[in-house]
Amino acid sequence: MSFDVSVIPHKNIILAVTGGIAAYKSAILVRRLKDAGFNVRVVMTQGAQAFITPLTFQALSGNPVHTALLDPEAEAGMGHIELARWADLLLVAPASCDTLAKFAAGLADDLLSTLYLATKAPVWVAPAMNQQMWAAKPTQRNLATLIEDGVHVIMPDAGSQACGDVGLGRMPEPEDLARQVTEYFHQAQRAIAEKFGQLAGKRVTITAGPTREAIDPVRYISNHSTGKMGFALAAACYAAGADVTLIAGPVTLDTPNGVKRKNVSSAVKMLNESMQMLEDGCDIFIATAAVADYRVAEVAEHKIKKSGDELNVALVKNPDIVATIAQQEKRPFMVGFAAETRNIEEYAAGKLVAKKLDMIACNDVSRDDIGFASDENAMTVFFAEQYQMDKRDLEKASKQEIAQQLIEAIHDALHRDPSSDDDF
Ligand code: PMT
Repeated sequence: MSFDVSVIPHKNIILAVTGGIAAYKSAILVRRLKDAGFNVRVVMTQGAQAFITPLTFQALSGNPVHTALLDPEAEAGMGHIELARWADLLLVAPASCDTLAKFAAGLADDLLSTLYLATKAPVWVAPAMNQQMWAAKPTQRNLATLIEDGVHVIMPDAGSQACGDVGLGRMPEPEDLARQVTEYFHQAQRAIAEKFGQLAGKRVTITAGPTREAIDPVRYISNHSTGKMGFALAAACYAAGADVTLIAGPVTLDTPNGVKRKNVSSAVKMLNESMQMLEDGCDIFIATAAVADYRVAEVAEHKIKKSGDELNVALVKNPDIVATIAQQEKRPFMVGFAAETRNIEEYAAGKLVAKKLDMIACNDVSRDDIGFASDENAMTVFFAEQYQMDKRDLEKASKQEIAQQLIEAIHDALHRDPSSDDDF
């Protein structure tokens, strides 16, 4: 599963490196954690410095490395208590036998053991050692104590060891550790969003991308939509605590983390999936898709051969997905989009009424810098009359930021809806 790290607010990680040959892997771990958007500060024990230099970690983390408890200079910069408070996670990798023993015993005779006692942050240890030392009873006893004390132990991998032994005791690969850390913060963030997010508890369906209407087995009618706007909204709705399903036309984007996805090609298939979502339960329906208004009346079974100077293809009207959903008895809160090239606000306001929507967001697709395919958008949002809300102009910004502002608009309208029994 891929993670969209942009939704993790910058988190602070203390990576503590202790004495063991696996310390060389910790250098790569710093890179991976930084790549994932974390702030990293490295603490090294004396043993670790026998394997790798603080300078390496300073260069990779972009921060001074902390090595001593009683160092007046370091304490004048970021003292050990401040460091303990700064951390959102204390990750000890590799964690030596000696460090595990110190933690289990509650010693505080160096910087790391003191930090362990002083921090409120979760503590993760990735033990790495000779397989016999791992299996030794005192080590296992210390681990049991640490687990009981709430420390998260990342099990070592099995395999050939630097000492020539084969067995359990290898530190997992840096990529794997960075993935586990990222996943942890995502889950923690999700738990908060599910409780306190602007769309907590809401089931959201979003249509995105273009539709493709076949002419023959090799040709189709479509448009320039890339799905960027709809996918940005899906990610933002998920981050706001919603349970999100994307009904996506043919686009090349990765599914945002946590979002469910149904791929479709034609407007008719998009409508079928949308009706299914309605049946499964949907509180908010957001139609960002650029749906083809017409499809070919009779799709040719075989590739149409070039013949005369002209070719006429008869088209028939496609169903209007958003209007169809809005007509259903148990309809969700309906958000439409309007892609216009002129009389933008007038046409958008007309669609709001004609399609019986609660809200519509319109954009000027004649511009190159916003709308179709670009990373940015600018929109004007209109609300149905019953909400008694003024239109909102969303200034040009990234589609992620626009998505955020649209969620605010949806939240505000839901909050005002006199027919809603929701307690926002
Ligand atoms: O995908 P991107 O490259 O990021 O570009 C984003 C976008 C420009 C596609 C997006 O911001 C946008 O404007 N989407 C709506 C495009 C559109 O089809 O607009 P419309 O004015 O033709 O349709 C009005 C509304 O009716 C839309 O919500 C549309 O999804 C819906 N509709 C239209 C026709 C149809 N048969 N069924 C529908 O549900």
